[in-house]
Amino acid sequence: MGRLDNKVCIVTGSTSGIGEACAKDMAREGGTVVVSGRKEKEGARVVDEITKAGGKAIFVRADVTSEDDIRNLVAKTVEAFGRLDVMVANSGIGLVGAPHEVTMADWDIMIATNLTGVFLCDKYAVEQMLKQETGGAIVNTGSIHSFVAKEGVTAYAAAKGGVRMLTRTVGISYPQKGIRANFVAPGYIDTPLLSALPPEAYEALKQLHPVGRLGRAEEVAKAVTFLASDDASFITGTGLLIDGGYTAV
Ligand SMILES: NC(=O)c1ccc[n+]([C@@H]2O[C@H](COP(=O)([O-])OP(=O)(O)OC[C@H]3O[C@@H](n4cnc5c(N)ncnc54)[C@H](O)[C@@H]3O)[C@@H](O)[C@H]2O)c1
Repeated sequence: MGRLDNKVCIVTGSTSGIGEACAKDMAREGGTVVVSGRKEKEGARVVDEITKAGGKAIFVRADVTSEDDIRNLVAKTVEAFGRLDVMVANSGIGLVGAPHEVTMADWDIMIATNLTGVFLCDKYAVEQMLKQETGGAIVNTGSIHSFVAKEGVTAYAAAKGGVRMLTRTVGISYPQKGIRANFVAPGYIDTPLLSALPPEAYEALKQLHPVGRLGRAEEVAKAVTFLASDDASFITGTGLLIDGGYTAV
């Protein structure tokens, strides 16, 4: 028996990194997974790998900055599987720059992707879950920068801080309807998001985590699956730090 048996789960940004690991872990736990993102080829690869491992998945293309795409993502999911039980709003981009260096274009795309994108996923997931009257679980991807600042992490921290408060609000808005919302707050995780870093920056980041290494996408996925499952039935409106001790020191 899996933790997500009979649950239909959307994972945005699951064509790579943390989202891909979530999609695979959730499928292993019995979930029916809607892999979503902008990259059709990568989406098809993830679906193929899940299917070959005995899981159930489809790909639905969606850009989280588009309201139409997110409305369509939920509609296609319901068309295919009749319901939606779990929304993992995970898509995100990285961007560094001191406050005076961040252009309006940088700021706008960061907020559109990492904050408004999460809002749209939560909004349309809740709308569907309310119709079903069977509750549901939302897991948003925040960051350690939902809590702590770092020089050069300006627009990203603003967006991830927003994800924290958005999640808290969604998480306490539907107590009688059985809809929970939480977020994960990873430390630095070894994914394509960090691939542009020079080797010395990469090494320096490792040292910021008391465990002495970066996290793995699978380590975040385990926490996402837990929060999405009924094992977390009394947990809502909060965040789980998965950061190798980064914020503890
Ligand atoms: N890697 C880290 O160190 C780290 C740490 C904390 C939080 N996070 C967060 O984890 C999430 C996943 O990042 P990752 O590390 O797996 O990196 P990643 O680049 O592998 O994954 C991000 C995914 O989001 C998708 N995406 C980006 N813009 C999109 C858009 N407009 N519409 C739809 N999909 C879009 C990308 O195509 C990709 O599949 C992000 O929200 C990121 O901010 C990452």
